[in-house]
Amino acid sequence: MTEAHLMTQATAPKPAKPHLPDAARVTQVTHWTDRLFSFRVERPQSLRFRSGEFVMIGLLDDLGKPLLRAYSIASPAWDEGLEFYSIKVPDGPLTSRLQHIGVGDEIILRPKPVGTLVHDALLPGKRIWFLATGTGIAPFASLMRDPETYEKYDQVIMMHTCREVAELEYGRQLVEALQDDPLIGEMVAGKLIYYPTTTREPFHHMGRVKDNLSSGKVFADLGLPPMDPAHDRAMVCGSLAFNVDVKAILESFGLREGANSDPKEYVVEKAFVGDGI
Ligand SMILES: Cc1cc2nc3c(=O)[nH]c(=O)nc-3n(C[C@H](O)[C@H](O)[C@H](O)COP(=O)(O)OP(=O)(O)OC[C@H]3O[C@@H](n4cnc5c(N)ncnc54)[C@H](O)[C@@H]3O)c2cc1C
Ligand SMILES: NC(=O)c1ccc[n+]([C@@H]2O[C@H](COP(=O)([O-])OP(=O)(O)OC[C@H]3O[C@@H](n4cnc5c(N)ncnc54)[C@H](OP(=O)(O)O)[C@@H]3O)[C@@H](O)[C@H]2O)c1
Repeated sequence: MTEAHLMTQATAPKPAKPHLPDAARVTQVTHWTDRLFSFRVERPQSLRFRSGEFVMIGLLDDLGKPLLRAYSIASPAWDEGLEFYSIKVPDGPLTSRLQHIGVGDEIILRPKPVGTLVHDALLPGKRIWFLATGTGIAPFASLMRDPETYEKYDQVIMMHTCREVAELEYGRQLVEALQDDPLIGEMVAGKLIYYPTTTREPFHHMGRVKDNLSSGKVFADLGLPPMDPAHDRAMVCGSLAFNVDVKAILESFGLREGANSDPKEYVVEKAFVGDGI
């Protein structure tokens, strides 16, 4: 998809619709491809979360019942708004509707953030690897914009793999904008390393995350040593098959899976339920 197809709608609020339970008003919608969009909503004043966590969001169904799904919060904890990055599943109960939201509409936002992709679930280290496919970049869109990430680590490596180049654009623009960010641009400079790859369309770097890790290609390309449990930490977010494969690679480097209650060297979260293959 070319730039001309990207459409950001940030003006001309629509007339208010009936008030939803736990309602949050939409303030911006951007369509990235015919399968991907992002949107921002007003943040309820009482909503506190740790960057990397997810919440339940949704709409009312035809019978007036809440239709809710898990969504990673893509904005950082300090942001006064909330951002989400979403798939459009053609027949998906929620996203076949959610993809049509506009500025001024309301969504349901359940105020109970949870999740494993949080700094508290990892032991201190030198480098952190964010490993994602598809919309699995959403929690890292939050963590890459959080100053704590750069306070805790000397190097932050974002590996994001999609089938096609256009599916990388949300992440690419986010990383580019971070370099000039007035709040954390200086912290990010020289620390954030972005390594996007495609698998089904030619691009300067190609290949699945697991293959680029197991072959050593990513370490060679970036001039980094192989992962070492003494220094490297990782967070993983993709389809079930991706998570299983990447866990095996991380374990082969000696990293162990951690949790909020038991911090170790890596943590994993599903980007969606379903095989995704
Ligand atoms: C912890 C967690 C966090 C999540 N965060 C996000 C997020 O930030 N953004 C997001 O778009 N989705 C996210 N999801 C998936 C989300 O909950 C819904 O599944 C998605 O919005 C589709 O909803 P649906 O009702 O339209 O279809 P569903 O009935 O939920 O899904 C139908 C099928 O579509 C496929 N699918 C669903 N979601 C995705 C996806 N994200 N990427 C590729 N294929 C998918 C699967 O094969 C699934 O079986 C998350 C899921 C979990 C468990
Ligand atoms: N993306 C599209 O254009 C498209 C279009 C129509 C329908 N869909 C459907 O939508 C669902 C999700 O598609 P998606 O593209 O968002 O997610 P996906 O199928 O999980 O693929 C996203 C990226 O992850 C890679 N990947 C998949 N499994 C992996 C594994 N085990 N280890 C490492 N990398 C892995 C893929 O590489 P590979 O390319 O090597 O698999 C691809 O680059 C799928 O059910 C798909 O059939 C997708």
